[in-house]
Amino acid sequence: MFTAADFIPKAYSSTIESGTFEWSAPSNIALVKYWGKKENQIPANPSVSFTLKNCKTITRLCFEKRDASSVTNGFSFDLLFEGKSKEDFKPKIRKFLERVEAYLPFLKEYHFTIDTHNTFPHSSGIASSASGMAALAMNFMSLEKLLNPEMSDEYFYQKASFLARLGSGSACRSVKGNVVVWGNQANIERSSDLFGVEFPHAIHENFRNYQDTILLVDKGEKQVSSTVGHDLMHNHPYAERRFAQAHENLDKLIAIFESGNVEEFIKVVESEALTLHAMMMTSMPYYILMKPNTLQIINAIWKFRAETKTPVCFTLDAGANVHVLYPENVSKKVLQFIKNELVGFCQNGQYICDEIGKGAIAL
Ligand code: PMV
Repeated sequence: MFTAADFIPKAYSSTIESGTFEWSAPSNIALVKYWGKKENQIPANPSVSFTLKNCKTITRLCFEKRDASSVTNGFSFDLLFEGKSKEDFKPKIRKFLERVEAYLPFLKEYHFTIDTHNTFPHSSGIASSASGMAALAMNFMSLEKLLNPEMSDEYFYQKASFLARLGSGSACRSVKGNVVVWGNQANIERSSDLFGVEFPHAIHENFRNYQDTILLVDKGEKQVSSTVGHDLMHNHPYAERRFAQAHENLDKLIAIFESGNVEEFIKVVESEALTLHAMMMTSMPYYILMKPNTLQIINAIWKFRAETKTPVCFTLDAGANVHVLYPENVSKKVLQFIKNELVGFCQNGQYICDEIGKGAIAL
């Protein structure tokens, strides 16, 4: 069993003055949802997600050794977003650096320039925290690997996921693998609350290249942030039952991934999405993140599925946008349906075509 202390490095064997790395990391979409957490970003229940391919953050990290005397002045970094200095992103990055400093003790010895952009529109309502924190974590691990060249690949990716988790919980599922589990689950060996692991069991070819078309229903700022939402699961009247249900649904998915039963997959995935939003609606204070068009889309998907027997379903993250999930072999039919019947419910007709991807990539 890993503990956080396993990620505190011993003395480094090498030194490095300056350099540059660049990584891309994708977003991910949870099938079993993480909702509720303990201290230090430890999830209240396990989750599993499809890693995406096209929605990603690309981050370049330049580093330069500082004078030994300036190290006591705290962290030193510049932040560029889409090539321009972005002061309002800095507090989030500073908080991340503070959280991971114990595990990356070299952070104050360098000045960093973090240059980042997303492949999806900034104000699309697609959270960039998962892809952004994962891309940053990969870069810091590349630097640590220079300081400790003996590091194994396994440790590299595990610790990258561990660090990404400290930035934003679900970011730990954006590091490596098509299907990633985060959180202890008895039937998934090596699963951990500390980092994401590649789903270790068989995955039927029905789920290979699964498609995710993201319908942008509402691009505005959420009324209630995920941080507040997670927090409202403390003393929530249904929390314990919900956490148990996530374990049950993850076990169901293990069998579903193996058998390729898309009908059962749909039941688990849609139930998880609606349960997530039911938790929000039954929090105190209660709130609703779905919009009228979210429900219009859900009903249209149900009608289309019933009439055409096409195995298409939806999931939601903590917002109004709808992720439409379907196997690759029905993509033509589903895209036509989306264009004909769902685009009208999207803000400015916007949607993003994505599919399962592999995780972070060094550029
Ligand atoms: O990683 P956070 O704290 O932004 O929480 C993400 C929560 C959901 O997207 C709603 C579910 C999930 O497992 O990704």
